[in-house]
Amino acid sequence: MTVDKFIPKPYSKTLESGSFSWQAPSNIALVKYWGKKEHQIPANPSISFTLDKCHTETTLKFTKKEKQHTEEDFSFEVYLDGELKPDFAPKIETFFKRIYKYLPFLKEYQFTIKTHNSFPHSSGIASSASGMSALALCLMSMERELNPEMEDEYFNEKSSFLARLGSGSASRSIEGPLVAWGTHEEVNKSNNLFGVKYTGHVHDVFKNYQDTILLVDVGEKKVSSTVGHGLMNGHPFAENRFHQAHKNLSVLKTVFSEGNLEKFIEIVESEALTLHAMMMTSIPYFILMKPNTLAIIDKIWEYRKTTGVPVCFTLDAGANVHVLYPENTKEKVLEFIKSELVAYCKDGKYICDQVGEGAKAFENL
Ligand code: PMV
Repeated sequence: MTVDKFIPKPYSKTLESGSFSWQAPSNIALVKYWGKKEHQIPANPSISFTLDKCHTETTLKFTKKEKQHTEEDFSFEVYLDGELKPDFAPKIETFFKRIYKYLPFLKEYQFTIKTHNSFPHSSGIASSASGMSALALCLMSMERELNPEMEDEYFNEKSSFLARLGSGSASRSIEGPLVAWGTHEEVNKSNNLFGVKYTGHVHDVFKNYQDTILLVDVGEKKVSSTVGHGLMNGHPFAENRFHQAHKNLSVLKTVFSEGNLEKFIEIVESEALTLHAMMMTSIPYFILMKPNTLAIIDKIWEYRKTTGVPVCFTLDAGANVHVLYPENTKEKVLEFIKSELVAYCKDGKYICDQVGEGAKAFENL
């Protein structure tokens, strides 16, 4: 597969002005993407649960500029919760530059981007996956107006393809409940260019799987994921790690089908710790976990051992802990979280989420 598929032919329609709104979810990786090649190509395949409640809502308003200078810069303003955010502009500018080849109408319009996250901006939850996918979907709605013959499958693939160019993990925030990204020989249609909905058999125990996000550290990350990915170049354990990700995804396929929670827990926790082990063993090395992250992990292990309840954790590139468990253990696990884990959360804050079905268009007001 090549990127040529996403370079559009001349459009059959024109568009003067309008707006589109999309709600796009966050996701949590079970097999982690860490390390990339040029043009946001992942060094290994990954798979994630799409989340339900953690999402970004974006409205994109557009008006055709009067003068059409193709050399002119992109014209846009970004608002977060009604407030103009000039500091978001460089990220959007970089995104627009990367996707211009695939959406050549971008310089012809004046855009207003209004965005809102369902989770607090300062929660330490990365908004790049849901934010980039919501914006990519709005832009694809525009392209679909210009080319009404577009099929849904192409719409989703190209939305994920564009979102990926904004933030790699955003490629997994279009559909749900499980999305794979990165070529893996046993995952149907998997490829490096966009995320694909996982179509293998999935046991009922994974339906409505719960993810309670414990907010341990709500500040800005000390090392950005762009820098972290870069440190996998020349990392002494990189090749073994990439190989392991392929193997873990193969095993997860069987786990999904059989509902083997013991094996699920082993892979998911090992993936989280390996991600952080890669950070701790790169040069320069860094640690994103906090003492409370470790205290929570210890408590989860102790609770699982004494009660047999199949609860486990995963981490993204930060100190927050995602507590994963089947829906039928929800009451017990929430009780455990409240009585034993909330004490380790910043201001006692946590977010109850679960696996979701993917992005939705909505009417803006
Ligand atoms: O999408 P990025 O470039 O911010 O990378 C995120 C990588 C992890 O969240 C750490 C893992 C993953 O697969 O989501």
